[in-house]
Amino acid sequence: MDAIAQLALYEADALLAIAAATDAAGIEAVRIQFLGKKQGRLKDLQALLGQVTPEERPVLGKKFNEVKDRVTAVVEERQATLAQPAAIVDGVDVTLPGTPFSMGHRHPISQTIEEFKSIMVRLGFDPVDGPEIEDEFHNFEALNIPLDHPARDPRDNFYLATAERTFGGPLLMRSQTSTVQIRVMQNTQPPVRIVSIGRVYRPDEMDDTHSCMFHQMEGLMVDKHVTMADLKTVLRLFAQAYLGKDVVIRFRPSFFPFTEPSVEVDMKWGDRWLEIGGAGMVDPNVLKAVGYNPDEVSGFAFGLGVERFCMRRHNNTDIRQFYASDVRFLSQF
Ligand code: DAH
Repeated sequence: MDAIAQLALYEADALLAIAAATDAAGIEAVRIQFLGKKQGRLKDLQALLGQVTPEERPVLGKKFNEVKDRVTAVVEERQATLAQPAAIVDGVDVTLPGTPFSMGHRHPISQTIEEFKSIMVRLGFDPVDGPEIEDEFHNFEALNIPLDHPARDPRDNFYLATAERTFGGPLLMRSQTSTVQIRVMQNTQPPVRIVSIGRVYRPDEMDDTHSCMFHQMEGLMVDKHVTMADLKTVLRLFAQAYLGKDVVIRFRPSFFPFTEPSVEVDMKWGDRWLEIGGAGMVDPNVLKAVGYNPDEVSGFAFGLGVERFCMRRHNNTDIRQFYASDVRFLSQF
């Protein structure tokens, strides 16, 4: 084979080997094989050039350099390509754009509860929990609601269809968070300053402001010399912290068996008043029922509707939307 053919063969072999190299080590081996200075195919070609006639030498020398430059350029290009991170990792093309996904977040009512808690903690109240399945003692009796009181009517409560009875009577889904007041006072001595937020259940007709399950925030403070003024201050501070300084609330005289005096609390919404809960001074009978001395301590209590505040904050007028599990609605919060 003459020298020209040898050069052509060298170039063809080099290009094939370069294309076959799949990683940095592979292309380096190819470089040494075809362009190595001490030994290898290039060295062999140089030796061949030394044997041609002086007339052929300049032409062949020029061709030799051209081939060498081309192979060098292709090797360098391949080296650069292989130095980049592989696009395919474990069969996945990592350069493709990702699949967008949206983060979930907490339910608006859960967000509201968290915020209520943190406001009340700042006001010095300790968050506590109570059971949603209650007995009549905690839901009614200890709260000074007598056996013949209409609030106990089976048609107004979710009694459980179970034969199980505690010492506190038949079981029901709690209709108010006031039950937690009793549980706390039974287990602690004054001073008491707690807040409890959770679900309550009532067989109400569902409409835009009523749901058979909703949430209440119960607050209780018992200490020496606690007055109605403390109650009003705490409720006003709370409402302002959640809804802003310009929120207007009012107190209307009312009646609850477990408070005396009692008030209902309204909040201004546009030109309407929205009822947001009940409150009052803990009735001496309730204090006695848990073993406190009404001559030594006094207290206030309140129960507020969580949904009502959340609706007002977000200008929502239909409570049912919070429980319809429609992502289009929920994702707005
Ligand atoms: N438990 C009452 C209700 O569900 C609200 C309430 C009124 C709670 C007065 C209280 C209170 O703590 O003192 O309608």
